[in-house]
Amino acid sequence: MEALFGAMGPETAPYDLRPPAVSPPMPGGPMVLEIGFGGGEHLAAQAQAHPQSRFIGVEPFLNGVGSCLRHIEESGVANVRLHQGDARDVIVRLPDASLDLCYILFPDPWPKLRHHKRRLIQADFLGELARVLKPGAEVRFATDWANYAAWTLEHFTRDARFAWTAECARDWREPWPGHVTTRYESKKLGDCAPIWLRFARC
Ligand SMILES: C[S@@+](CC[C@H](N)C(=O)[O-])C[C@H]1O[C@@H](n2cnc3c(N)ncnc32)[C@H](O)[C@@H]1O
Repeated sequence: MEALFGAMGPETAPYDLRPPAVSPPMPGGPMVLEIGFGGGEHLAAQAQAHPQSRFIGVEPFLNGVGSCLRHIEESGVANVRLHQGDARDVIVRLPDASLDLCYILFPDPWPKLRHHKRRLIQADFLGELARVLKPGAEVRFATDWANYAAWTLEHFTRDARFAWTAECARDWREPWPGHVTTRYESKKLGDCAPIWLRFARC
């Protein structure tokens, strides 16, 4: 993880996960993971808004990675690393207690009952996520599918390592401060208004 962000200059390609040949001292900023960044507009905007943080984005689709690279280039950020593939393969390789924040924004909803097992949010996945999050770290999840919101709440609240941080309805009806609208979000393809869930790692 440290070597991954050793070189923060523009000479380090954002899609190259290999450690740079020369690693200057680590700035040690917060480590943020975005799972399924889609077109990457949110990831690049967050990286620009938080230059001291270090962002890892994971997305299986090449077109999304290409789009994200364009956003990264246009915004001139150097604090993002991308991996094309399955986030679960990345998470198992992360050290314990290494992440400060994880975004899961509008993950594939798999609305049919027989497809629920394909959803990203599963008990095993939460186990690995809990392992790599620091105590007090946050998961920010959004969906516009009511059943996936209920499913996610059920899974996180069943796991004693997470606590839902909402204190009033506004906390799940409105996005968190600094949210950047994603491409999927703006399409409004779901069956409800977006639901914003924040979970703290206990
Ligand atoms: C509905 S799209 C939302 C994209 C983006 N977050 C947005 O809001 O515009 C879900 C994204 O998750 C990605 N995805 C699906 N399974 C994934 C996995 N196992 N690991 C990482 N990304 C995944 C898909 O390729 C897709 O880009």
